[in-house]
Amino acid sequence: MADDPLDGRVALVTGASSGIGEATAMALARDGADVALAARREKRLREVAARIREEHGAQTLPVRTNVRDEDSVVEMVETTVAEFGRLDCLVNNAGLARGESVEEMSADQFRTMMETNVDGVFFATREAIPHLRERDGHLIFVGSFAGQYPRPFNPVYAASKWWVRGFAHSVEGNVGEEGVAVTVVNPSEVRTEFGAAYGESFEERFEEGEVTEPEEVAEAIAFAARQEGSTVSELDLYRRDKFSGF
Ligand SMILES: NC(=O)c1ccc[n+]([C@@H]2O[C@H](COP(=O)([O-])OP(=O)(O)OC[C@H]3O[C@@H](n4cnc5c(N)ncnc54)[C@H](OP(=O)(O)O)[C@@H]3O)[C@@H](O)[C@H]2O)c1
Repeated sequence: MADDPLDGRVALVTGASSGIGEATAMALARDGADVALAARREKRLREVAARIREEHGAQTLPVRTNVRDEDSVVEMVETTVAEFGRLDCLVNNAGLARGESVEEMSADQFRTMMETNVDGVFFATREAIPHLRERDGHLIFVGSFAGQYPRPFNPVYAASKWWVRGFAHSVEGNVGEEGVAVTVVNPSEVRTEFGAAYGESFEERFEEGEVTEPEEVAEAIAFAARQEGSTVSELDLYRRDKFSGF
């Protein structure tokens, strides 16, 4: 519909096969954007894409991507731009947590997490910037509460999210004068498949209404993506009792 705020825009969402990424792709399409959906699980991407087309009539492009692999990320952005002819918004959302304490973490767990949460964000951002610059576009990062406050468990995950915030705001300083908006959205516990590496996922661990829902995070991202003149630099979303017991 011509009146939708993101009508004519193209968004690329990493980690769109579940959780926050899936809800974000849905929210951006509801607001009028066409969406490219990236992740490794292609079948899930196709299912999400079909639902988006059905519910919002948006054009969709599932792009099988491993964000740890530079060539795959280059191809993700190239395929999106080849299909839609432009890119207005990149949502750097793909991420994971593995392992617990520093002493218990294997080099393999460390590398998997850093390559996903850090390298993947760098590759995607680098490839997207030239396209976003042409469109006064949006670069949106999913950070975390863990990237703002010290935490007693999984310091490597936390540090990867501190990196995301530091990188995002430094890039903000870098591309702002070229018209690109940069946003970091920091959730705390969200009911998704996240956390499965700790034994049970957050959607299993928390009851509905207990913590943040992926759709709430998606709304924050969509709000940032709708801004035309200004930048929503950072948004934090927590359950209301997050600080009790601190
Ligand atoms: N849930 C929370 O409590 C919470 C809190 C703060 C921040 N976050 C952040 O929110 C983001 C989304 O997480 P979520 O909660 O929505 O969890 P989720 O449901 O587990 O989703 C993670 C997404 O990342 C994708 N992904 C993981 N590794 C990838 C890779 N190598 N290449 C491409 N895609 C990959 C997954 O897709 P495939 O497996 O199909 O590749 C999936 O779509 C993450 O950055 C996470 O750190 C989550």
